[in-house]
Amino acid sequence: MKRGALIGCGFFAQNHLHAWRDVDGAEILALCDRDEARLDETARRFGIERTYRDAAAMIEAEALDFVDIATTVQTHRPLVEMAASAGLHIVCQKPFAETMAEAQAMVQVATSAGVTLMVHENFRWQSAIRAAKAEMDRGAIGWPFWGRVSFRSAYDVYSGQPYLATDEKFIVQDLGIHILDIARFLFGDVASISASTRRVNPKIRAEDVATMMLVHESGATSIVDCSYATSLPRENFPETLLEIDGSEGTLRLDAGYRMTVHNGEGTIEHDVSPPLLRWAERPWHNIQESVLNIERHFIDCLSNGISPETSGADNLKTLALVYAAYTSAAEGNRTIAMRDAA
Ligand SMILES: NC(=O)c1ccc[n+]([C@@H]2O[C@H](COP(=O)([O-])OP(=O)(O)OC[C@H]3O[C@@H](n4cnc5c(N)ncnc54)[C@H](O)[C@@H]3O)[C@@H](O)[C@H]2O)c1
Repeated sequence: MKRGALIGCGFFAQNHLHAWRDVDGAEILALCDRDEARLDETARRFGIERTYRDAAAMIEAEALDFVDIATTVQTHRPLVEMAASAGLHIVCQKPFAETMAEAQAMVQVATSAGVTLMVHENFRWQSAIRAAKAEMDRGAIGWPFWGRVSFRSAYDVYSGQPYLATDEKFIVQDLGIHILDIARFLFGDVASISASTRRVNPKIRAEDVATMMLVHESGATSIVDCSYATSLPRENFPETLLEIDGSEGTLRLDAGYRMTVHNGEGTIEHDVSPPLLRWAERPWHNIQESVLNIERHFIDCLSNGISPETSGADNLKTLALVYAAYTSAAEGNRTIAMRDAA
């Protein structure tokens, strides 16, 4: 049994805790939050008695194998460093760090301490995205030469996560990071990126629309487009839609989790809806299931001594795309070569 503690009992951590209950081989023994009211409320909700307002005190007092860091980005570095120096394995929420230098230092600390560091980059663990990748891997559409990975919504994310309206950076750093990671997952690492960003909603501080063009090392081109300013007849939050053109066919993941694979053998439609876990709530159930999947993956990696798909080192490549996209957008959509940005 891997014994863990959760740091940060906020909005999204509630999903972490529900999911941890469903992960065989792991148990959350203790909780930490600086905010006493949130800590007490979460402890009561999940029946976890050992609570701390200070992470260092918790790490000192508890016999742990890992920590799950679910705070916002500003505190990731000190918490990762603290856990690594105590020899604990680490899951850390995205965005992993505020700068590339900070992220590189955090990966280095974990490597030197010999601990496993996984970034909670969960979107690629959504069952619909896994289903699309499985079709590509079995060669259903041949060589994927073009793709579009798209997330467009007008869902009010600001009420649950008020910091999204006031942070200096918004959609690329918060949501685009996931969609860029899906593009890497599907088409491989990226040679170059260019981007344009806009703020449409006047009530928020930073950009809520981003369009990015990626040229992958494989030669494929992908468009990664994100918007929280797009009011559609049907609200698709929080679905990521895919269009993938391959040398032997095409794959589409349309709204409502409908995947269509077309090739020389015909056209097959699949329902790739995520299961509605007993603690999940629509429309979040897609993301909630991916939290369970990534937590299971983490425990599997610890048990079998393997590196997580979204290890800290892997996530540097996704994070580099985020910062390169901001640079490109600030410099008139200049194309950034990723070998210069990572
Ligand atoms: N992967 C996803 O799908 C997904 C979805 C939503 C949010 N997130 C990410 O999760 C993270 C948390 O977001 P949130 O909306 O839950 O934030 P939040 O502000 O609701 O919660 C963060 C909590 O951490 C606590 N905290 C901060 N620093 C601390 C410290 N040093 N020690 C102890 N507690 C501390 C705060 O008191 C707060 O309760 C963010 O990085 C966000 O981007 C990820």
